[in-house]
Amino acid sequence: MAVNRWRLDGLRALVTGGTKGIGHAIAEEILHLGAEVYIVARNLDAVEQCVAAWQQQGLGAFGSAADLSLSGDRHGLMDTLKSHWSRLDILVNNVGMNIRKKAVEYSTDEYDTIMGTNLRSTFEICQKAYPLLKKSKAASVAAFLCMPAASYVTGDCIAVDGGFMINGF
Ligand SMILES: NC(=O)c1ccc[n+]([C@@H]2O[C@H](COP(=O)([O-])OP(=O)(O)OC[C@H]3O[C@@H](n4cnc5c(N)ncnc54)[C@H](OP(=O)(O)O)[C@@H]3O)[C@@H](O)[C@H]2O)c1
Repeated sequence: MAVNRWRLDGLRALVTGGTKGIGHAIAEEILHLGAEVYIVARNLDAVEQCVAAWQQQGLGAFGSAADLSLSGDRHGLMDTLKSHWSRLDILVNNVGMNIRKKAVEYSTDEYDTIMGTNLRSTFEICQKAYPLLKKSKAASVAAFLCMPAASYVTGDCIAVDGGFMINGF
């Protein structure tokens, strides 16, 4: 029986951390729904392998390597994206990490790494993507943070956050 699925033809999506795990699955789903997808991760070989595999299937995949915990790489990514696309319809802020120990045991460096990768990076990418998102007729933003115990859906912005920032568990 034919399944009538909704489509994303003609739309353009940035999926951070699109080479593995949840980000890879999201990128692949969006591609199969007809959108073009740009992925970014630190490992260039992994980015190139994913993009090549998708392009061989006729899908509109692109990508580059960047460490999104670094401000310079975030700037570089958005500059590259602006030269590649004149607008962005979907932003999936999937990159995130955790150091599994009690909050009271974090060193200052570990705290800075977590905040820089999960919070500041997401904020700055949203900020820098805003001019491109503004040119879309229906832009959407998704952010992934911490544990899967809670989710919020607020209009065009979906956040997945288990409350780590609030509860510190
Ligand atoms: N898995 C879970 O149970 C779970 C639950 C709740 C929330 N989450 C959240 O969901 C997101 C994805 O989780 P996952 O389990 O799918 O992760 P994963 O399998 O470890 O994949 C992470 C992806 O992000 C990339 N990445 C990591 N750090 C990066 C950085 N600093 N700059 C650029 N790319 C980076 C990785 O590639 P490189 O290593 O090559 O950079 C990879 O493509 C994370 O934000 C995580 O906190 C996961």
